[in-house]
Amino acid sequence: MKNIFDAPFLKEMCAVTANMYRLGWDERNGGNISYMLDENEVGEYLDLADVIREIPTGFEAKELIGKIFIVTGTGKYFKNIENDPENNLGIIRIARDGVTAELLWGWADGGQFTSELPAHLMSHTSRLSVNPENRVIMHCHPDYTLAMTQVHEMDERKLTRTLWKQMTESIVVFPDGVGVLPWMVCGTNEIGEATAEKMKRYRLVVWTLHGIYGAGKDLDETFGLIETVEKAAIQYMLTANLPKVNIITDENLAALAKRFELDYRKDFLNL
Ligand code: 13P
Ligand code: ZN
Repeated sequence: MKNIFDAPFLKEMCAVTANMYRLGWDERNGGNISYMLDENEVGEYLDLADVIREIPTGFEAKELIGKIFIVTGTGKYFKNIENDPENNLGIIRIARDGVTAELLWGWADGGQFTSELPAHLMSHTSRLSVNPENRVIMHCHPDYTLAMTQVHEMDERKLTRTLWKQMTESIVVFPDGVGVLPWMVCGTNEIGEATAEKMKRYRLVVWTLHGIYGAGKDLDETFGLIETVEKAAIQYMLTANLPKVNIITDENLAALAKRFELDYRKDFLNL
């Protein structure tokens, strides 16, 4: 059996969470990640028949039975993951009943998965239904995206248009736009269901006055989506109260879509 601390997926989780912490996206225990792993790969590092603990999830995830995820723990600080992954992360498998998580590794101090597990697992199910390659759901609290939810109308079309117009690369990176949820109580099945519903159409969902969710085929792609929204939000917050001299027009956006052959939300442009 290989040493789990050498596993690429564990190293990637350590690197990405450290990066997110340093960017200020994950204060204290803010943010959470779930990353679906390949069973054969995990089997090189862990005895898959050895279940350490069984933890009820509080909801049914039928489509994910048997799937294995590495997940951040509830109350755990992203700041600490790199130096202490075994207490701050866990590897779980969704049991045959669909409502239990089998702990295969981690949370050595008795901890458990993020309180946002419903939003994560329900979003995995949604994303997999539209893209079988999806592996990652990532949630965090980036400053400018969050600030924007205080001052910008939280309408999907309007918010997407504003983000697209902040910088040329926005529409290229997220041509599918940004979904929006109103303020809701976090850590519940209700916000999980609402997020997952949006995830059928969007890879990015902004939670008003809370943060953002991203989905992608790997950690890099998902991180990059959130990073690009945050960059656009920085541009917006830096310039929102200044007179605009130069702007990206709807015609400019359509020209980008043509050049990069984007499958984009045409109904979000006024053409
Ligand atoms: P957890 O510590 O349970 O992951 O919660 C953090 C968070 O960001 C809630 O939305
Ligand atoms: Zn949060």
